[in-house]
Amino acid sequence: MGKETVIVLDFGGQYNQLIARRVRECNVYCEILPYTVDIEKIKSIAPKGIIFTGGPNSVYDESSPHYSAGIFELGIPVLGICYGCQLMAYTLGGNVVSAADDSVSEYGKTETVYNNGNPLFSGVPESGISWMSHRDYISEVPNGFSVIAKTQNCPVAAMANVEKKLYGVQFHPEVNHTEHGKAMLRSFLYDVCGCGGSWQMDSFIDSTVEQIRAEVGNRGVVLGLSGGVDSSVAAALLSRAIGKQLTCVFVDQGLMRKDEGDFVENTFTKLFDMNFVRINCQDEFLEKLRGVSDPEEKRNIIGTEFYNVFWNKIRESYGSGYFAQGTIYPDRIESGKGDAAKIKTHHNQVGVPKDIKFEGIIEPLKDLFKDEVRAVGEKLGLPHDLVWRQPFPGPGLGVRVIGEVTAERVKILQDADAILRDEMDKCGYAKEMSQFFAVLPGVRTVGVMGDARTYSELVAIRAVTTDDFMTADWAKIPYDILGKVSNRIINEVPQVNRVVYDITSKPPGTVEWE
Ligand code: XMP
Repeated sequence: MGKETVIVLDFGGQYNQLIARRVRECNVYCEILPYTVDIEKIKSIAPKGIIFTGGPNSVYDESSPHYSAGIFELGIPVLGICYGCQLMAYTLGGNVVSAADDSVSEYGKTETVYNNGNPLFSGVPESGISWMSHRDYISEVPNGFSVIAKTQNCPVAAMANVEKKLYGVQFHPEVNHTEHGKAMLRSFLYDVCGCGGSWQMDSFIDSTVEQIRAEVGNRGVVLGLSGGVDSSVAAALLSRAIGKQLTCVFVDQGLMRKDEGDFVENTFTKLFDMNFVRINCQDEFLEKLRGVSDPEEKRNIIGTEFYNVFWNKIRESYGSGYFAQGTIYPDRIESGKGDAAKIKTHHNQVGVPKDIKFEGIIEPLKDLFKDEVRAVGEKLGLPHDLVWRQPFPGPGLGVRVIGEVTAERVKILQDADAILRDEMDKCGYAKEMSQFFAVLPGVRTVGVMGDARTYSELVAIRAVTTDDFMTADWAKIPYDILGKVSNRIINEVPQVNRVVYDITSKPPGTVEWE
């Protein structure tokens, strides 16, 4: 592996990615591995430190995840968090009390007293708020350990065996509610593990450019560019590495937001050195969608058509050399989740058809989190609007034009959506929301304009705030902003005479209407 690495060993905790993000914010590279990973694999990585995450279990549950005690004998510093701390105590002979009732549990912000003579808490005040979320607790630390933090209910809020560099905290240093949590993680990484802090986006760009050049030599690389953040940053990075050896294929199915296809084309042809191929195929897509109004059928048609258009082009002209894609780290992390009910089909991974034989696949962003991808994009000179683009569904406006998708209806929606975006940008409210857009529900209503009756389209506005898009709340946009948007849409888009605001959270709604 070569680079300075810390391993986050995942025991199923809800904050595992947050822990990894915090480590990276300290300029230390880290990887999340499932608790099922073999210890030999960990040894081969030779990490500077290991962090055990929290998890929902009790160490006494029959199916609770455990890890070989040998991990504490490798001489590698370990920090256990919450369940990870209990597991460390239990495995090394301490005592964990399984709390059958809630009377001893602690949830939320908790006053905590620290022994700040300990390396983990150096620079931290004698007491402060930590974020707790546990029922079981440690009543006795293992031999060789001492108690280094307490709360009123928790006799062992943190423990340490300084000599063996083993540390455990019952609270969550990775969440913002824990005052000085970041300083504690920093102390673990720098003072205990001896990390040097070499993970920086500038050095990432330089070393990745070198790796790409070494791997590709003088061969060609083809990348499917969607105009989304990940594929755009991958394109910019590859362009820096190999210039005209890169060909980006951009399929414009005519279902993007207003003028977006031109914006993507201008960005990549004017600012970057590469071959840029745009396939305009709105007519073909609309033809396939004619008369179809079922949401899943529409998604499938758009997904299949995209696949065919894209790969036919590749077969025709670029079916050799390397294939690149903008896979990012969260796309690759093994998630322990079971089979969720299918709500709708997302088409994100475009598998390479069997008859196309590339020499290899290049995924230059495969180790980065989304905000790191954005930082790289900014450093490479991508426009701010592209780097900070909101998520946009693969089927595009096809799932925001409810019912049958026609050129005229796409145009109405594009115009209304452009006004919404313009107003949100102007009033500065855009950054308060995770995603916002207009929807054309396909409902006509009666209105009156200039004393005459109208019978025209309804436009809905959808705006949400969320951390992860798995759940979302509807955004509380101030009425005066909504009023302005509504006035402008009705005045400037002649086919529309009414605007409504969607106030449904997810669940029970989804973010998109189809
Ligand atoms: P839903 O509607 O499932 O949306 O609540 C959650 C997030 O996913 C986006 N979305 C998609 N993204 N391909 C994508 O890449 C898709 O097919 C797709 N469908 C929905 C949606 O915009 C929201 O951000």
